[in-house]
Amino acid sequence: MLAWIRLYVVGVIVLVLQLFRRRKTNVKGRGRNDTTYIVSGTTSGIGKALCERLRKNSKVIELCVPGHGGVTADLRDLYALPALAERIRKEINATPSEQRQRVVLVHGAGVLHATPRDIYAVNLQAPAILSVLLADSVHRVVFLGSAAHIASSSQKPSFLAHPLYPKEAYPTSKRLLHPLAAVLSRYFQMRTTVIHPGVVNTALYTGEPIFMRFVLLLFGWTPQQSALRLCGLLPYDDAPTATYCDTTDMSQVNINLLTNSAECDLIWDELYQLVSVIKRKKQ
Ligand SMILES: NC(=O)c1ccc[n+]([C@@H]2O[C@H](COP(=O)([O-])OP(=O)(O)OC[C@H]3O[C@@H](n4cnc5c(N)ncnc54)[C@H](OP(=O)(O)O)[C@@H]3O)[C@@H](O)[C@H]2O)c1
Repeated sequence: MLAWIRLYVVGVIVLVLQLFRRRKTNVKGRGRNDTTYIVSGTTSGIGKALCERLRKNSKVIELCVPGHGGVTADLRDLYALPALAERIRKEINATPSEQRQRVVLVHGAGVLHATPRDIYAVNLQAPAILSVLLADSVHRVVFLGSAAHIASSSQKPSFLAHPLYPKEAYPTSKRLLHPLAAVLSRYFQMRTTVIHPGVVNTALYTGEPIFMRFVLLLFGWTPQQSALRLCGLLPYDDAPTATYCDTTDMSQVNINLLTNSAECDLIWDELYQLVSVIKRKKQ
């Protein structure tokens, strides 16, 4: 119950801030023509809008749920990720070399109304494992984080053991993207970015009470507005740093200010464990 209240209070505050900040920014975001973007969650919402924008200028490899075009995968199945990584690598190699000077992996898939296990798998574990499996082929990794991470309640956050309730699992899965981004940039020399895409009226909120859907319809951004700002924040320099960006004011901070080294060490140990188990199972 407390997690539920916390999540809604944070949501409303972020929405109000977004309303005040939105006119202050003048964003010109688009993809680069020397870059290949691999984007997950492209059947709806922010991922779909982002693909439509990036496709105008860049090569885009779409990762969708089975039944749609592109490279398909159900991200809840963590053991299927090595095969998915191989398929993505083939797609990258089939791209003309001038379009893959930079390869950017954008984790756009996510769930809110699901079991805690599925929330953890889709929002946190699959993006983490896929990033590690593709570390030799991608230059940058972008995670869609959330301001809801502030509502995370877990005292001892674990990458492997999820909280029991969905309203706790969602913000915790988003908060753990911060130490994950720090770990990936430290151990794999990647540029990693966690971006809060704003409060956006999408299918993510299907299942919310009707008044919430109405508030979102009136005051939330459209996926296209969010995608424009996201493009403006996709980092273009190569420094292996980890950054948290907020589309509502286009701010950027070093992720080390949002996390601590003990947490990063724990996440690294758990991630290493999980990737080892998955690779062993493949053999
Ligand atoms: N909307 C917001 O206000 C907001 C705020 C903060 C952060 N975010 C984050 O932004 C990301 C995108 O959310 P959205 O608002 O665009 O939601 P959305 O419209 O529901 O899109 C989510 C995408 O993820 C895909 N997906 C879900 N489960 C999957 C699975 N098991 N395997 C593969 N793909 C799966 C969905 O495919 P299907 O639809 O085909 O299942 C869909 O394409 C999420 O990570 C979310 O947490 C959103």
